[in-house]
Amino acid sequence: MISQNFINLVYLISAVLFMLGLKKLSSPATARLGNKLSMLGMGLAIVATLLVPGLSFKLIIIGIIIGTLIGGFAAVKVRMTSMPEMVALFNGCGGAASALVAIAEFQLKGGEFGANMVAQIGSFSMITLLLSVIIGGLTFTGSVIAYAKLQGIVSGQPITYKGQQLVNAIILIGTAVLGYMVYQDPTNLTLFYIIGGLSLVLGVLSVIPIGGADMPVVISLLNSYSGLAVSMTGFALGNNALIIVGSLVGASGLFLTKIMCDAMNRSLANVLFGAFGAVAKNTDAADGGAEEAAGSVKGYEVEDVSTVLENASSLIIVPGYGMAAAQAQHAVRELADYLDEEGVEVRYAIHPVAGRMPGHMNVLLAEADVSYDQLFAMDDINDDFDGTDVALVIGANDVVNPAAKDNKNSPIYGMPVLSVAEAQTVIVLKRSMKPGFAGIENELFLKDNTMMLFGDAKASIQALLAQLKS
Ligand code: TAP
Repeated sequence: MISQNFINLVYLISAVLFMLGLKKLSSPATARLGNKLSMLGMGLAIVATLLVPGLSFKLIIIGIIIGTLIGGFAAVKVRMTSMPEMVALFNGCGGAASALVAIAEFQLKGGEFGANMVAQIGSFSMITLLLSVIIGGLTFTGSVIAYAKLQGIVSGQPITYKGQQLVNAIILIGTAVLGYMVYQDPTNLTLFYIIGGLSLVLGVLSVIPIGGADMPVVISLLNSYSGLAVSMTGFALGNNALIIVGSLVGASGLFLTKIMCDAMNRSLANVLFGAFGAVAKNTDAADGGAEEAAGSVKGYEVEDVSTVLENASSLIIVPGYGMAAAQAQHAVRELADYLDEEGVEVRYAIHPVAGRMPGHMNVLLAEADVSYDQLFAMDDINDDFDGTDVALVIGANDVVNPAAKDNKNSPIYGMPVLSVAEAQTVIVLKRSMKPGFAGIENELFLKDNTMMLFGDAKASIQALLAQLKS
């Protein structure tokens, strides 16, 4: 017979491994080890849970098989550019799991204790059960909507209407009132299910007004909610592992949300209630409107651009979402290696929200074996563009948009951006004059010292390298 103390000891070891794992994830050099430590922690926590007496292994094994197949398939098949969508779905599953466990616990304890349930399980457990259903439910549907927006299944634009926030507030208050009524009368299962239904509605209504470009921030926030729901379930069940893991997920999701908001110079309230995409759509460049200014854009051939690179002695590469979309990271490293051997000083400037998820560029460049000491965070390299021969912008747009500094009317005004225009020559690789995620025009492309090389980023880099070698 395994004692509860032993199970708690294993949970404690898991918790330590999770914390070490999170710490290691903060640097690209140690991130792989961080993942392994966290995997070990999760493995131990699962084994310890399976040691709890009285479990029905038939259902558990079926669950493990289904979960392993889905998780394994997603890990192998999902492209890096679709990671936010996958994280959204996994957050949704976390929320749904917490809500379902809480519902099962409510039914179990309700059946056992009837009207005396609160007296038997205690007020705290009852409140955490209700919170688990509410937070888990809204995390589930909110995440599904976030997934659908990113995937283009529903419009990525904010869906807004008059009195929207009032409606959301009324539903939230209504849910709290019903929660109080169920607390008073736990035998009222109908009210309990209405609470679950309202939390699902709340998840949908609170995510639809948020624009597609803000989805990664919302996904991080929903990640935090899913942690909170897990932790509530842990309190309700008296399970230490769930309490610790849920708190870690909740806190780290919240920190990540704050980091993203800071990097865009936006408040969380502005992201949640600002309907950012709707504002951006009114600007000229939305829907490819930048083509109006296409006359003054200077498109160049591979030969012209390679001559500039050949004559440079310093180069800063600025990767963005387009590098990820084109899967150009290996070609970028080959070009950089070639130029490095030719005596060019090559560095990379990484904007904190370049791409579609935190650390997106670091992960891709690490995959291509780019040395960590060539990667520089925005604040560490921004002053160096002035004095650099060439800034090579590869599929980046919003994170190099000077409107963030110069144009008070721009929706991204105030967002810190890379000062690429300060370099002697700016080379931009993209396929067209279409805007980036924020949907706004970028005057960098019209500047005198900017050379546009249109085409898929990977094909352009391969062509440049071939030209340089010849
Ligand atoms: P974006 O501004 O989205 O621009 C990407 C550019 O890549 C586009 O203009 C596109 O132009 C180009 N592109 C796409 N596919 C390409 C291909 N195959 N070859 C060459 N170019 C290609 O990207 P960014 O500068 O990295 O900025 C990220 C945006 O996401 C910001 O608005 C940021 O606020 C937002 N965001 C990011 C995060 C995180 S955590 N990363 C979180 C929240 C929001 P063409 O279509 O003309 O090729």
